[in-house]
Amino acid sequence: MKQILVTGGAGFIGSHTTLELIQNGFKVVVMDNLSNSKIESLDRLEKLIGGKIPFYQIDLLDKESMIQLFKNHDFDAVIHFAGLKAVGESVQKPLYYYQNNVTGTLNLLEVMNNSGVNNLVFSSSATVYGDPEESPLKEDGPLSSVNPYGATKLTIENILRDLHYSDSKWRISLLRYFNPVGAHESGEIGEDPNGIPNNLMPYVTQVAVGKLQKLNIYGNDYETPDGTGIRDYIHVVDLAKGHLKALEQLFSEEGLFTYNLGTGQGSSVLDMVHAFQEATGINIPYTFAPRRPGDAAICYADVSKAERELGWKTERTLIDMCRDSWNWQSKNPNGFE
Ligand code: NAD
Ligand code: UFG
Repeated sequence: MKQILVTGGAGFIGSHTTLELIQNGFKVVVMDNLSNSKIESLDRLEKLIGGKIPFYQIDLLDKESMIQLFKNHDFDAVIHFAGLKAVGESVQKPLYYYQNNVTGTLNLLEVMNNSGVNNLVFSSSATVYGDPEESPLKEDGPLSSVNPYGATKLTIENILRDLHYSDSKWRISLLRYFNPVGAHESGEIGEDPNGIPNNLMPYVTQVAVGKLQKLNIYGNDYETPDGTGIRDYIHVVDLAKGHLKALEQLFSEEGLFTYNLGTGQGSSVLDMVHAFQEATGINIPYTFAPRRPGDAAICYADVSKAERELGWKTERTLIDMCRDSWNWQSKNPNGFE
């Protein structure tokens, strides 16, 4: 049985991926400092699988504890989700972001190298395409960063490319996620943002549950059919399944691989509001507000490479994403608290 270390496994995408891994016969060890998640998410996972998940509360910046962790376990691969992800906060606290994401990843890579663990799946982001001029975005398109968060993702991608070119025993998959939403269909695990959500879907579900009054739609004057911003929303369970495909590829093929993980479909903010109403029967009151600084008008993926090389494509619709987000939010109005 292959043993996988999942860093950031208590978080939104990490918890869903941990579940998929276990359900597909992998042994998983979770490492997380719980800076943006709660231990309750792992309790819920244990309830879903009916078993224990080894958990270590370790910070990526605590190299000594990571060395010990790698001594205690014989990992076949690492899926590296751990990182800070709030764009606005990264603008306010760039050093904190570079330290946590970049230094933290360097620590992990050094410990992996010294332990002879050289298979890595990394959580990158569509943010590495910067402010894209044209969608659909292809993996070999131009890369740039428009905020410190994006710069950490791009820097880590560069480090990982250099690492692979220096030594081909490093097998690496760079997965560029588009907009992950939804929740496991059980409603036991889901996205639990701190404070007022920045992202669209958790904001919508918090309006629906009555915690927030109305949605502010940032901009209705974009060059899009209805004037609102277009994104590629992907169900977190489809995204989690993409990680299994990426991992299987690393176990069978040498290389450094880069994939967009999205649906390939662009949806506007108003499309999301309407899909949510259709899926749940709940009307979301909204007003149009000025554009949010830094937002692109249109951003969606060309997913043909992942489909061709990984044999992966999404199965869940916008309605599924809305239904499952709502199922999670309505069962857990205060998240994991
Ligand atoms: P999340 O915040 O729910 O999960 C990240 C986890 O990492 C959290 O549990 C947090 O406690 C942990 N963590 C952070 N810093 C750590 C450190 N120094 N040591 C140990 N643990 C640490 O976020 P998520 O949405 O699940 O995202 C997972 C990854 O995917 C992140 O790297 C994120 O940048 C990337 N990503 C997310 C999105 C998105 O929209 N959710 C989009 C693209 C990429
Ligand atoms: N939006 C609103 N109102 C809100 C929140 C969002 O109208 O309250 C709009 C945004 O303007 C945008 C769309 O909904 O048009 C999606 O916004 P999100 O904040 O949900 O997602 P982003 O595409 O802005 O950002 C996400 C991740 C970032 C990542 C980026 C690119 O949150 O971390 O995708 O991958 F950098």
